[in-house]
Amino acid sequence: MRTQIGIVGAGPAGLMLSHLLHREGIESIVLENRSRRYIEDRVRAGVLEQGTVDLMIQTGVGERLQRQGLRHDGVWFSFGGKRHRINMAELTGGQAITVYAQQEVVKDLVQARLDAGGQIVFEIDDLTVHDLESEQPKIRYHKDGASFEVGCDFIGGCDGFHGICRPSIPRDVLTFYEKVYPFAWLGILAEAPPTSEELVYTYHHHGFSLFSMRSPEITRLYLQCAPDEDLAEWPDDRIWEEMNLRMRTTDGWGPAVGPIIQKGVTAMRSFVVEPMQFGRLFLAGDAAHIVPPTGAKGLNLAVADVRVLAEALAAYYKSGRTDLLEQYSARCLRRIWKVQRFSAWMTLMLHLFPGDDAFDHRRQLAELDYFTSSRAAMTALAENYAGLPMD
Ligand code: FAD
Ligand code: PHB
Repeated sequence: MRTQIGIVGAGPAGLMLSHLLHREGIESIVLENRSRRYIEDRVRAGVLEQGTVDLMIQTGVGERLQRQGLRHDGVWFSFGGKRHRINMAELTGGQAITVYAQQEVVKDLVQARLDAGGQIVFEIDDLTVHDLESEQPKIRYHKDGASFEVGCDFIGGCDGFHGICRPSIPRDVLTFYEKVYPFAWLGILAEAPPTSEELVYTYHHHGFSLFSMRSPEITRLYLQCAPDEDLAEWPDDRIWEEMNLRMRTTDGWGPAVGPIIQKGVTAMRSFVVEPMQFGRLFLAGDAAHIVPPTGAKGLNLAVADVRVLAEALAAYYKSGRTDLLEQYSARCLRRIWKVQRFSAWMTLMLHLFPGDDAFDHRRQLAELDYFTSSRAAMTALAENYAGLPMD
């Protein structure tokens, strides 16, 4: 088999890359080790930046997003029992976020690729990448017991944090930057109508909590927990008791209770690898970086990477230019580090850390008080949260 771009991983990064390349007349194959059903059901992120929404609409995969996505002009921060609203749209000249689940983005992209005759191979095994420094890199894999080899011009390493592309690069050419946080998030989906039209991030002396949603019928909630938290110790009643305790405000606002339909624990880490390229292998999305979910940026950053990569590959095929490919890593990393900064800042401000004392708590409260009352600080938050412009 031969293609122009071999893409490893059918997450948001790999699928969007394949979609953008197709629009430039560039052929690709996406290779995924899970089933279509699995990737379309996997519950993860839910907040799309303005730039991600605009890109989906402009490239013809935004129809369902425009019908079903929930546009939020503002976001709430709650502390000391009171909620404070940040009017994002007003502070940024109309930028907003849209709540639309990651698995819906994945479904829309899979459908668009298949409708356009694109190739996605699901349920493959033992994928390996070869000859990365040559002009003809290769991908080998097994499917249904048979062996396959795909020769390509370039490889998109879009296989997430636990993928094989990053470990296939010699360690001594990479630098890793990492912080692992001493807590995790226990997340639930509940069949309960959202009691707030916008997200609420809460700082509480029991720990952080977050009120979000997926639709007018489904609430998505998170609470800070131990990194090794055992879900078996969290029967539904205990989850609701703790959510209520952390979220309820003095004016009586809190989440509505309903049947819990999904539970999970998400680890929290900040991670970057530099550079994001080795020979003809280009890493994108979680394969190259992880942000703690507090800033709601993981999916958006993956989309921003592949936008830069698709543009660079288009310039290569149209006019033989290699400069944009050479600049790929540096261009992405500028945005990635700003988003790392923002995500770490939100995480440090809103969570309880082991060993923190009364001084640290007062400092966190002062920080929350400052940025929910200073227009300059609110603007800084709003432009980061709604998404920095592409450069
Ligand atoms: P992924 O979505 O991870 O896609 C990589 C794909 O590659 C997967 O489909 C995987 O099956 C496939 N793959 C892996 N290895 C191989 C292989 N060897 N061969 C072939 N295919 C392979 N972000 C938020 O903003 N908010 C959240 O609440 C949130 N929750 C999250 C919860 C979890 C459990 C995880 C893991 C992530 C969460 N994120 C969240 C982050 C966000 O979902 C990611 O940033 C986003 O999925 C990145 O997209 P990606 O395409 O780079 O990687
Ligand atoms: C979500 O809705 O899943 C969500 C929202 C905001 C975040 C993280 C996750 O910061």
